Amino acid sequence: MMGNSHLDVYSHRSDVEVVAVSDSDPARLSGEEKAAGNIEGQAAGSFDLHSVMRFDEGMDLINFEDIDLVDICLPTPLHYDYACAGLKCGKHVLLEKPLARTADKAFALAQLSQTSSGFLMPAMCIRFWPGWSWLQRKIEDQEFGKVRSAHFRRVASHPGGPFYSDGQACGGAIMDLHIHDSDITQFYFGRPKSVQSFGYSCITGEIDHIFTRYEFEDIPLVTAEGSWSMVEGFPFTMQYTVNFENAAADFDLNRKDQLLLYRKGREPESVALLPGMGYEYEIDYFLDCIKRGRQPRMVTAEDGAWAVKIIEAESASIKTGHAVSIE
Ligand SMILES: NC(=O)c1ccc[n+]([C@@H]2O[C@H](COP(=O)([O-])OP(=O)(O)OC[C@H]3O[C@@H](n4cnc5c(N)ncnc54)[C@H](O)[C@@H]3O)[C@@H](O)[C@H]2O)c1
Repeated sequence: MMGNSHLDVYSHRSDVEVVAVSDSDPARLSGEEKAAGNIEGQAAGSFDLHSVMRFDEGMDLINFEDIDLVDICLPTPLHYDYACAGLKCGKHVLLEKPLARTADKAFALAQLSQTSSGFLMPAMCIRFWPGWSWLQRKIEDQEFGKVRSAHFRRVASHPGGPFYSDGQACGGAIMDLHIHDSDITQFYFGRPKSVQSFGYSCITGEIDHIFTRYEFEDIPLVTAEGSWSMVEGFPFTMQYTVNFENAAADFDLNRKDQLLLYRKGREPESVALLPGMGYEYEIDYFLDCIKRGRQPRMVTAEDGAWAVKIIEAESASIKTGHAVSIE
């Protein structure tokens, strides 16, 4: 699914040549079968997979010489080995989140990337998503004053399939889905001092519905909810409400006017957003870093590793019933 979403982006660019694709599933490698995405328009392209080299083993693609960048959208437990292999043979690597299945491996990967000639960027697409990059600018320039509270919400019914049903592989909703919002809190507000989480498991054996409060020194209330335990038919929902001193911003992916801005004495304003999804801006940014020879800064490999570490702290908080500090 994510492989096709990224492929859609590359195949529409004139500065990139898609040289090869890989999938160990013959039906997917031939294009006969296609995984469906969460969001309308995702993985929807019509790239002819037969027009490029095709490998049924990802390592063979990674080791193929005439490639500058590998975009790894493999199941999470494979991220570490395949990204290490890519970096070790000098490729640039865009790696789907979570950076690795465990924080230890994620930090090891981040460390390896510091000495490799290729860049490693975790695909934390929400940092690039229209509406979310708008929010980053407003938090930074303080046009509406300081943030008093922020709530992020990402809930859906379970995506199904063997990978997403196996908590050991995907990490449950907490690791696979909610990591986007944990990461966005560190992106906007820095690393939290501690996390206090509540949640339960019902599908994967890992946490499938979570609610977390992130503790920051200067922002009174930052929370996030993530779930894929919603009843079948519940739409994929991605929202935030951020209350500034002088305005409130409210985003809802499923609303016609996705971003509404509320200001004292004014009618609610619909904010015009850049078109499309985060993937095209994320890939555009990474390609620009490669062309300029500059390490990615919008999201670093270390950020990706910290995101996994914060998720592990949230999980520990649910198990112990206490807040867990982030060291
Ligand atoms: N950034 C996002 O918004 C987002 C959204 C969904 C998934 N993801 C992440 O993307 C990753 C993949 O998720 P997905 O939903 O695309 O899964 P998917 O099952 O649709 O795709 C994974 C593919 O990898 C193939 N594969 C497995 N082993 C292989 C190997 N050794 N060589 C070549 N191909 C191999 C499988 O056949 C499968 O087609 C996961 O880590 C997930 O967390 C990110």
